[in-house]
Amino acid sequence: MAARGLGLLTLLPLCARRSQVLRPIHRLLSRAGTVAADVRREEQSSGSVETGSEDRTPKKKFSEVQKERREQAKRTVLIHCPNKISEKKFLKYLSQHGPINNHFFYESFGLYAVVEFCQQESVASLQSVTRTPSMDTEAAIPFRSRFFNLRLKSPSNQPSEQPHAQCSSQSSPSSKKLFELLCDAESIDDQLNTLLKEFQLTEENTRLRYLTCSLIEDIAGAYFPDCTVRPFGSSVNSFGKLGCDLDMFLDLDEIGKFSAHKTSGNFLMEFQVKNVPSERIATQKILSVIGECLDHFGPGCVGVQKILNARCPLVRFSHQASGFQCDLTTNNRIALKSSELLYIYGALDSRVRALVFSIRCWARAHSLTSSIPGAWITNFSLTIMVIFFLQRRSPPILPTLDYLKTLADAEDKCIIEGHNCTFIRDLNRIKPSGNTETLELLLKEFFEYFGNFAFNKNSINIRQGREQNKPESSPLHIQNPFETSLNISKNVSQSQLQKFVDLARESAWILQQQDQDRPSPSSHQPWGLATLLLPSVANSLCLAKKKKKKPASERIKNLLESIKSSSAENSTDTNGKSTVSTQP
Ligand code: GTP
Ligand code: MG
Repeated sequence: MAARGLGLLTLLPLCARRSQVLRPIHRLLSRAGTVAADVRREEQSSGSVETGSEDRTPKKKFSEVQKERREQAKRTVLIHCPNKISEKKFLKYLSQHGPINNHFFYESFGLYAVVEFCQQESVASLQSVTRTPSMDTEAAIPFRSRFFNLRLKSPSNQPSEQPHAQCSSQSSPSSKKLFELLCDAESIDDQLNTLLKEFQLTEENTRLRYLTCSLIEDIAGAYFPDCTVRPFGSSVNSFGKLGCDLDMFLDLDEIGKFSAHKTSGNFLMEFQVKNVPSERIATQKILSVIGECLDHFGPGCVGVQKILNARCPLVRFSHQASGFQCDLTTNNRIALKSSELLYIYGALDSRVRALVFSIRCWARAHSLTSSIPGAWITNFSLTIMVIFFLQRRSPPILPTLDYLKTLADAEDKCIIEGHNCTFIRDLNRIKPSGNTETLELLLKEFFEYFGNFAFNKNSINIRQGREQNKPESSPLHIQNPFETSLNISKNVSQSQLQKFVDLARESAWILQQQDQDRPSPSSHQPWGLATLLLPSVANSLCLAKKKKKKPASERIKNLLESIKSSSAENSTDTNGKSTVSTQP
């Protein structure tokens, strides 16, 4: 179909805007009537884990969600648009290639549109009328992707009264806004749920993550036509915060499966292949080449680093148009299975995600976690700690992994590299917990539990849901759920663990004190979760530690005093409000 009217589509020049500095994505969603309603409907049926045990609607299996999302992403294109664009004309122009199922706009170095067609043929139709740009001073590499650049043929012809794309911001709240929301909440439970609501990945952010994987799959597909690039980690395990990285898994296993089915008779046909000494070397070679492709041919892929000597070799890069920091791995099927397990735990009870988000934000606010690799606790470890804690409640809020294994049927059986990764995948068959403890209690008890945990001799084990003797001497031992001889927190130093323990104890103590003396909501004083997220808690702790002479009780008293005075100080900023740091 020919493209007429509005403008001129060009494939984005490779490495375009390479020199621009990345900044957090500000997400904007079209509010166009039926489309917004579609998005909401989609949200309800998408399988995104947003409900707890109270919700009796059937929940989709992880694999079903992944399949649906991937198909959706294949019918989707990413378009860099002129800033002032008429949404109506834009949609009319694209509709020449087929009906549009969904679209939204967001801002990240300009205006972008994510457009999902009803049929995949529409994408090919659009590509067929798209030209490769001609440059004056640079040369374009003519890679035909699904990432386009829309230009106006004659910008002056756009009437100024024409309504532009109607957008609203979908980014996570500023620290100040979050603080206000938390202070205005009615209870600590309300605070935890508010934090979850404000920080969880939105429908559109999730779509953009799957689309980014799909675009990378197109590039890897040039070498391995049947490969898939799947998101894993917090992008899909239901514990992702807006702004979290995008972990991708280049899955080459499907290729082997195809050929196995196609054999017949007494012959077996095999491809001639190059052999290398080990799986690890094969992984390194594949990632090395894909890394080069991303660097040289990948529109919008910048800052490509090949980190091939890591335990799990990876290619790290920024996808500029989406704003995501991406980690591409291959041969990492166990991590995908871990994501599925966490997805199930996140879906079993509405308290799980609320608690995990708050603990992650608390840890980030006090620099217990970091985006830089080092001796810190990771978000993955923190999530496992929360799951373990919830398994230890009476009655348990979450079942053990061994129990989930006993519920598995033949189809659930999964062995990866000799490790038994079997567990029930249909979460509708898992009975909800009878435990009715409040989030407030759980938050307090989490801090108390880990403030007093015998880390020196015990290991955290969600497979059995009980403490076990540590098999080795790392300060923190959290058993890898599937590769059970491994410790997922081997990197954590004694001093980082001690900092975690100190902060957990003090946070428990602060919550306990506030039980007796909670400020009234009208006072706009930090309370509950807001107090725990104030950086002043950590700073005071560091100061107190430096002095070190005072007994703990006195330090805690000082700490409380400093929180009170800091909240008074903070509340006198230009807007009369204090600030909370929870941003990653
Ligand atoms: P954030 O990116 O911090 O939001 O959380 P994440 O869960 O995505 O963590 P990360 O990006 O560090 O790792 C991605 C996934 O890799 C995790 O969800 C786990 O499935 C897996 N993973 C991370 N660290 C380890 C580890 O030490 N051992 C194992 N076996 N898997 C890990
Ligand atoms: Mg991640």
